[in-house]
Amino acid sequence: MVSGNGDADQSAATTPSTQLAVVVRFPGNIHHMKTLPLLVIALAIGTFAVRAEPVTKAEAEVHGLGDNKVSGTVTFTKVEGGVRVVAEIKGLTPGKHGFHVHEKGDCTKPDGSSAGGHFNPAKAMHGGPDDAQRHVGDLGNLEADADGNAKYERVDKMIALEGENSILGRGIMIHAKEDDLKSQPAGEAGARIACGEVKAGK
Ligand code: CU
Ligand code: ZN
Repeated sequence: MVSGNGDADQSAATTPSTQLAVVVRFPGNIHHMKTLPLLVIALAIGTFAVRAEPVTKAEAEVHGLGDNKVSGTVTFTKVEGGVRVVAEIKGLTPGKHGFHVHEKGDCTKPDGSSAGGHFNPAKAMHGGPDDAQRHVGDLGNLEADADGNAKYERVDKMIALEGENSILGRGIMIHAKEDDLKSQPAGEAGARIACGEVKAGK
């Protein structure tokens, strides 16, 4: 006859291996195979519900770098098929000016270098906004009229307000010259004259 002590020892010895067996058998159990993904989805929905609502709008207030008197706003609104970009900028010289999203929203250096290069998470080549091969941040050019005012509007398929292509916290940059949409790595757009950080809006 087995003693009380023996039972206890046996129980202690078998418990870990029983647990191990359950873990090992788990993927082979049809019932659990079905419930596991549901559990994961339920947890994901629960996590999502606790989070803030997804960002659908963002804005950048643009100010001149160094002695440049450029100013204006750029708004971003999530729409069907992409993000609508609307820019209203003043204080430019007449003509085209390279217009990009740069990697960082840091506009503190007078030459704009603190904003880094073009926002390019996929390590693509520089291009124009309608090119298949482009940086996410390649928005082409603003075109200022004789008074130095520029309006820009496009629905862009690449930039986003969430995920890998999210422009939140990044920098909007305006250049002294026209972006030729092909020269590497930045379209030969010249000096950085105005900059603004993209911030989530309501
Ligand atoms: Cu740029
Ligand atoms: Zn680029």
